[in-house]
Amino acid sequence: MIDKIKEHIGEAQAFTTDNKDALEVFRIKFLGSKGLLKDLFAEFKNVPNDQKKEFGQVINLLKTTAEDKVKAIQDALESKEVSGGIYGDLTRPGEPLVIGSRHPISLVKNQIVDIFSNIGFNVSEGPEIEDDWHNFTALNLPEYHPARDMQDTFFIQTNPDVLLRTHTSSVQVRYMEGNKPPIRTISPGRVFRNEAVSSRSHCIFHQVEGLYIDQNVSFADLKQTLLYFTKEMFGKSKIRLRPSYFPFTEPSAEVDIYWGLKTETDYRITKGTGWLEIMGCGMVDPNVLKNCGIDADKYNGFAFGMGIERIAMLLYQIGDIRMFYENDVRFLEQFKSSI
Ligand code: PHE
Repeated sequence: MIDKIKEHIGEAQAFTTDNKDALEVFRIKFLGSKGLLKDLFAEFKNVPNDQKKEFGQVINLLKTTAEDKVKAIQDALESKEVSGGIYGDLTRPGEPLVIGSRHPISLVKNQIVDIFSNIGFNVSEGPEIEDDWHNFTALNLPEYHPARDMQDTFFIQTNPDVLLRTHTSSVQVRYMEGNKPPIRTISPGRVFRNEAVSSRSHCIFHQVEGLYIDQNVSFADLKQTLLYFTKEMFGKSKIRLRPSYFPFTEPSAEVDIYWGLKTETDYRITKGTGWLEIMGCGMVDPNVLKNCGIDADKYNGFAFGMGIERIAMLLYQIGDIRMFYENDVRFLEQFKSSI
């Protein structure tokens, strides 16, 4: 019996683990309420008197050996956990980084800016709160010009000379006032029009307008520049210019691209014609050049302007313009992979 207990002492001394569960199994085996020591203490009364002393000593030794072992391993495991807390479990899979996404309007704007930068256009910006001169008058829209109605304007009530710009042509005026030709600049920005909000139009949207002023600029230069743009932007190489009217350009045109009629969507978005209107353009009216301090006998040029939302809707097949402004993460997250 005593030899058997000594064997258990040896077993307890030799025991080692770095696993909490295994330690618990060990503890229950030796010290548990139905464990070895409990049985041995129960056995004590049956031990002959002359052996009681030695028996008592060895079971006490077994008890302290097991207890010390459990304590020592417990401490070791705990200190390991603490240091693990500093460095983490190095084998654990990494936490995925949450990557943001660019807004589709920024994506398209950047793309347009890149395309025009490649042919020497710089980027110019101006204020969203404008005065009448830069938004209208300098652009050949004198005070009672009916074309002012084309763009329903938000005025600042206390001062009718102050308004929210209705197009970024105002930036072009500022640029011409401050710079000498040759001028090659594009002006991206937010614009405001007092229009009813629907799935197709919004009272706040974004534009990119372009301006090219030099000597002997021709309408063919305008068309080639726009053709280059539509090829780069949409991969489409057929455009047509339909006569139109803008007070600040003469002649003026609307630019359509041939989108094609391959799919049902093509039919829907082009209303069965295959053609899509994407921007307005024209040769800058000499009056505008004069208003901005440029010698209209020496210089001429072209201008164009497009809505970014419209293009983004085409490229990403977005059916409702309001989605751009709702900041619904389910919408925004879909642009994650884009640069
Ligand atoms: N400013 C015009 C608009 O907002 C667009 C345009 C710009 C047209 C330049 C012709 C030339 O609709």
